[in-house]
Amino acid sequence: MAAQSMLTNWIRGQKLKAPQMKNARVFDRNLEEALDVRRADHAMFTPNISAWKSMEGVDFCSNDILHLGSTGQIRAAFEEELTRHPNYNLYSGDVRMLDRNYEYIQQVECEIAEFHGAETALIVNSGFEGNGAIFCALPRPGDAIVYDELVHASTLDGMAFREVLSEIVDSERMIREGTRCVLVAVESVYSMDGDVCPLRELVDVAKEICPKGNVEFIIDEAHGTGVVGPKGAGSVNALGMEKEIAVRLHTCGKGLASTGAAILGNATVRAALTNFARSVVYTTAPTFLMIAAMRAGYNLLRSGKKEKAQDNIQHLVKRFVNAVRANQIFQKASEMGIVWVPLCEDMEERDFLVHIVPIRTRQRYSYWLAFHLQLDGYCILPIDYPVVLKGQSRLRLIVHGANTEEQIDGIAKATCEWAREMVDIETGADASSKIAKSAQQVY
Ligand SMILES: Cc1ncc(COP(=O)(O)O)c(C=O)c1O
Repeated sequence: MAAQSMLTNWIRGQKLKAPQMKNARVFDRNLEEALDVRRADHAMFTPNISAWKSMEGVDFCSNDILHLGSTGQIRAAFEEELTRHPNYNLYSGDVRMLDRNYEYIQQVECEIAEFHGAETALIVNSGFEGNGAIFCALPRPGDAIVYDELVHASTLDGMAFREVLSEIVDSERMIREGTRCVLVAVESVYSMDGDVCPLRELVDVAKEICPKGNVEFIIDEAHGTGVVGPKGAGSVNALGMEKEIAVRLHTCGKGLASTGAAILGNATVRAALTNFARSVVYTTAPTFLMIAAMRAGYNLLRSGKKEKAQDNIQHLVKRFVNAVRANQIFQKASEMGIVWVPLCEDMEERDFLVHIVPIRTRQRYSYWLAFHLQLDGYCILPIDYPVVLKGQSRLRLIVHGANTEEQIDGIAKATCEWAREMVDIETGADASSKIAKSAQQVY
């Protein structure tokens, strides 16, 4: 019921508006015309509430990866933190570097830095703000930034990275001479494909091509925080590369079920951020409430009690992949290009698995499969342009620490049932229909 009404709202949200707005204010009409471009692509974001929030579906979509939020664990830890500080302040103040610094935030920053084995941590209001701060404050004139345009780890893999770096060294004298830097921006876990950054390999290539040591890495651990590494400390800690990575960003909006972020680096990095980053300098300091929630999340990680949830994610991802891989109809549908799970190809070669499992489909099918699964009670979202490139549509299965084997078996079975339906439609075995039943129901 909740899924049906959510889907109906979503469909309504995709209907073009500007053609009916001839007599409206120019300001509104122009905005609606711009929004109609999104609607025409079925890419208009609508503020839906997922069915799992009203207990009418299974959560396979939220970023509450360890289920600290939905199980109330973060709330309990946060409330404990509040009772420890009954006189906390909510006063509106100033930017942090003027009059708004306070002991509590400094203390939590020290704890976060220690947890991740970093020299310093700087807390910012969000990961988005943190990334803005990093790239505003740290590159100096003449530095080169290498980043992954497609937000996909493979473009930075081995050969491609070697080539890019060699080209920069050949063409930029000051980098060749070691007086300017190459800053390499990567993500520990890539959010669309669930790829894990081959950080060790990239750093080794950088050392080989630039032996003067002027290649520095900036790693966004947003999707790895709480999930990867010892006690969820992230991939840099997992690889023991704390001393080799210049800057790390950890966000609390995903695995830690709250908000805010911390930028890790040495004292020089911190000083540059607090002086040059506009998003740090020109904003009110983070509030006590946000810091208390961040601390609550870190306390849960530090306790080591969430490692079981980390292990469960590995187990459940394997279980899902094995289930669809063993299904003959799913195999046939994959061969026909209807639906496939890239992880089926290389799961055994991966050192560890993460919670993001893309289910790729033929272009327009991602919605049909999402409708099918949602109507079956599995909350999973289709990801389409503009979040991914055109032609790259997929469903993003997010496996959580508190999902169960039954839930995984259920979504694997439902996926295979849909694959059967689509194989029948495409091969003509079902001549009665050209579109999936779920799509008929929703449209
Ligand atoms: C890789 C990555 N970095 C940073 C962010 C932004 O973090 P926040 O939600 O705290 O602004 C996101 C958010 O979705 C993300 O996926």
